Amino acid sequence: MDRDIKEVLLTEAQIQARIAEMGEELTREYADKYPVVVGVLKGVVVFYADMVRQIKVPCEMDFMAISSYSGTNSTGKAVVKKDISADIKGRHVLILEDIYDTGNSLSFTYDYLMEKEPASIKICTLLDKPARRKPGITLKPDYVGFTIPDAFVVGYGLDFDEKYRNLPYVGILKPEAYSK
Ligand code: IMP
Ligand code: MG
Repeated sequence: MDRDIKEVLLTEAQIQARIAEMGEELTREYADKYPVVVGVLKGVVVFYADMVRQIKVPCEMDFMAISSYSGTNSTGKAVVKKDISADIKGRHVLILEDIYDTGNSLSFTYDYLMEKEPASIKICTLLDKPARRKPGITLKPDYVGFTIPDAFVVGYGLDFDEKYRNLPYVGILKPEAYSK
């Protein structure tokens, strides 16, 4: 796997240090709120597991899945493939995401969960790629781990064609890896 990576963008140590910082903020934000932490599968799983352990207050863990990317291009459409199991009406919700790219997925997820009448929704994304944002997307993440340049990245949960999710760092793929 490593030999398909052109450049390591974020090392394990950088990622863990930033997660610890965000954990302090989120611990303060959610003291006494017993939030439902919603992860959007599958890209978030690695980040989710590390992030949630740095939120040092009681929380409920939940997951949803929406239709995803195929290859390197977003289709722009989203469908709920797996709904959350908690009743979030009146609850505080924290959405965890791997990456905020065009903004389609998170905007869809946010609107979908809003209809369930939670007390609040905040968004925490590990990566933000503002250069790719679609015009008309106004939603802003409340917590951003790292703002990254416009490159397709893999690792730490992020895939290309379902591969590379288990790399412990975030890296940029070599162009020839796309054609494999
Ligand atoms: P968005 O709807 O365009 O914001 O993208 C949402 C989803 O696309 C993310 O949750 C990722 O699964 C995927 N995605 C976007 N950019 C990348 C990338 O650079 N590498 C891998 N997956 C990506
Ligand atoms: Mg994804």
